[in-house]
Amino acid sequence: MTAPPPTPSPAAPQPPLIAVRQLTMGYALGSRRVEVLRGVDLQIAAGTRVAIAGPSGSGKTSLLLLLAGLERPSAGQVVVDGVDLGALDADALADLRRDRIGIVFQSFHLLPSLSALDNAALPLQMAGRRDARDVAGAMLARVGLGGRLQHRPSELSGGEQQRVAIARALVHRPRLLLADEPTGNLDDQTAESVRDLLFELNRDFGTTLVLVTHDLSFAARCDRVLRLHDGQLHETDPASLRAPADAVPA
Ligand SMILES: Nc1ncnc2c1ncn2[C@@H]1O[C@H](COP(=O)(O)OP(=O)(O)OP(=O)(O)O)[C@@H](O)[C@H]1O
Ligand SMILES: [Mg+2]
Repeated sequence: MTAPPPTPSPAAPQPPLIAVRQLTMGYALGSRRVEVLRGVDLQIAAGTRVAIAGPSGSGKTSLLLLLAGLERPSAGQVVVDGVDLGALDADALADLRRDRIGIVFQSFHLLPSLSALDNAALPLQMAGRRDARDVAGAMLARVGLGGRLQHRPSELSGGEQQRVAIARALVHRPRLLLADEPTGNLDDQTAESVRDLLFELNRDFGTTLVLVTHDLSFAARCDRVLRLHDGQLHETDPASLRAPADAVPA
């Protein structure tokens, strides 16, 4: 006789994957200083899908760079997966990104001398994975680039480069994906398949998604929508962005 399985205990409350406190950041412009973020507070639960919207120049990219530890705030704190980024040096930040964070940059940041395959395989190669190219090849096929593996970035269209950047951000199955307008350069059909891929990853692996997007139908599919305006984040109900045809009948 085997013992009956233990009754599951109620799940302990999970700490947020991202905890931002009083985040302030600005840029020096000559003798002036432009404040972009003015004391932003934000908590994001693990496994959620969060869209960040806001006008051009409102600081969306700056916020993502701070969450990735690629910029330092002038004040405030960013904690990702229990780690206070302010306490880490550049090497430790790079290790954290390599292990837990995927980033899709607005301008892709692909390495020009590497093929699509080698660009996408890079995070796995840095982690010493011997199957790096196989996994990267499969991810590129997933984003519809199976026929472009050996092309360099200069030989790819903007949308194709964006998909290589997405594949590169996802190959190591990060806990957190930060994506800056990941569908901004894609045609409707490819954008839809990239959206589906991101949501599938969220569902299957619990990847937390933080997406900057101007695409309201994309934002409406997320759990939360945050609008950045005047250096502050404002929570918006995703349901309010859904077209009446998408509304669930009462
Ligand atoms: N390196 C920099 N030096 C000076 N100012 C900067 C720098 N980077 C960004 N800024 C300024 O900070 C503000 C926010 O920029 P950011 O790139 O975060 O905006 P954004 O919301 O991502 O805009 P977009 O939707 O156009 O991508 C802008 O006014 C920009 O001019
Ligand atoms: Mg931007």
